[in-house]
Amino acid sequence: MSNDIAKARSGVTITMKWIYFIILQVMLILLVVTVTYKHADKVTVVKLPPKALAQWYKPDNKRHVWLHNMFKLRREMQAVEFYAEQKDHKRLVEWGLKLNKHYLAIGEMVANWRTKLDLVTIENIQNRAESRDYPGVLTAVNTLQKSCDGCHVDYQAITAMTYRSADFSAIDVAPSIPFNMHMQTLSKQVNQIKIASEDGQSALALSSLFELKKAMNKLGQVCSNCHKQEKQTYPNEKMQKIMLNLEQNLKTGQVKQQARDLGSLAVTACATCHGTHRLAEGVKRLLAKEHTFAELLKH
Ligand code: HEC
Ligand code: HEC
Ligand code: HEC
Repeated sequence: MSNDIAKARSGVTITMKWIYFIILQVMLILLVVTVTYKHADKVTVVKLPPKALAQWYKPDNKRHVWLHNMFKLRREMQAVEFYAEQKDHKRLVEWGLKLNKHYLAIGEMVANWRTKLDLVTIENIQNRAESRDYPGVLTAVNTLQKSCDGCHVDYQAITAMTYRSADFSAIDVAPSIPFNMHMQTLSKQVNQIKIASEDGQSALALSSLFELKKAMNKLGQVCSNCHKQEKQTYPNEKMQKIMLNLEQNLKTGQVKQQARDLGSLAVTACATCHGTHRLAEGVKRLLAKEHTFAELLKH
């Protein structure tokens, strides 16, 4: 009898412990949700691509192997769809085999992403192609496309940015000036022209323009590191012409004309390149930044 009561009591205690445990869990989850929600406008979560991808891109690899596998997949999806519609059994099976091979290559290249593959559907495509079930192939191709899209939504843009956008971090401007230091020099020269122009110091403005020209020529020498070109294309003809006008106007023109010329020079000689290169460099750097735990907590 007393044994039964003891048993019942310990049962109650265990149940109570579980209730406390669950309440604690729920509170924790609520706390995390509230904190995340309150800060939703300040932070965003970006999924980074696995590091294993690097080996399938330059410079670790001779070619952008990963990207070329993707191009093959797109072509093979199109061919499979086309020959299923045409009911061309032989070609359908051939292209289906290639699709299978390159789809599975995703998981062979990046083991972490094996779980993202829809293995049932890719096999379905093979089987239905073999058995001449053409509508079945078309349905399966549609389903497979969802697996492609699912990965792309999270990883396509960030992968291209990480592994294929131009990297200026190791580029020096002669004689061995770090790239961003040279940028600061350019910026100072442009602003010195502007300040001197506004204050009517024509000689200083002209000598600063002369320095800017030299610095732009030096910058122009690094473009061929990556851009295949026979002769130097920066500063180009248009920029040269604006600089000639600016020089004339610094000597004899109005402050307003000088400001206009300097403005066009900044757009053509600086902003156009920044639109591609600085933007990419900045985002890349932001993503590469290691966040300390304290920093994350602060957010
Ligand atoms: C597990 C992830 C993943 C899966 C699954 C996947 N892809 Fe991709 N795909 C990527 C990544 C990452 C990129 C970005 C590569 C880059 O730009 O360098 C990409 C890029 C592409 C591109 C290049 C887009 C462009 O125009 O630049 C094509 C085409 C493509 N994928 C086709 C496919 C097809 C078709 C499938 C399905 C049969 C597929 N992918 C499945 C990860 C995936
Ligand atoms: C580290 C390699 C690298 C260097 C150095 C480089 N570029 Fe680029 N540039 C690229 C790549 C790659 C692209 C294609 C877009 C991308 O992926 O960022 C590009 C694209 C561009 C574009 C936009 C697309 C176009 O062709 O119009 C401009 C403008 C440009 N570069 C100008 C320059 C100038 C000017 C210089 C030299 C002062 C230069 N780049 C130096 C790699 C480089
Ligand atoms: C190759 C194309 C290119 C051209 C042309 C170019 N820039 Fe830049 N600029 C960049 C890149 C890339 C960065 C980012 C460098 C980095 O963060 O390491 C940058 C960064 C800068 C910065 C910030 C430097 C820093 O310390 O973070 C300034 C200022 C600047 N550029 C000014 C100029 C001016 C002024 C001109 C025109 C006279 C110019 N740039 C022309 C590519 C270019």
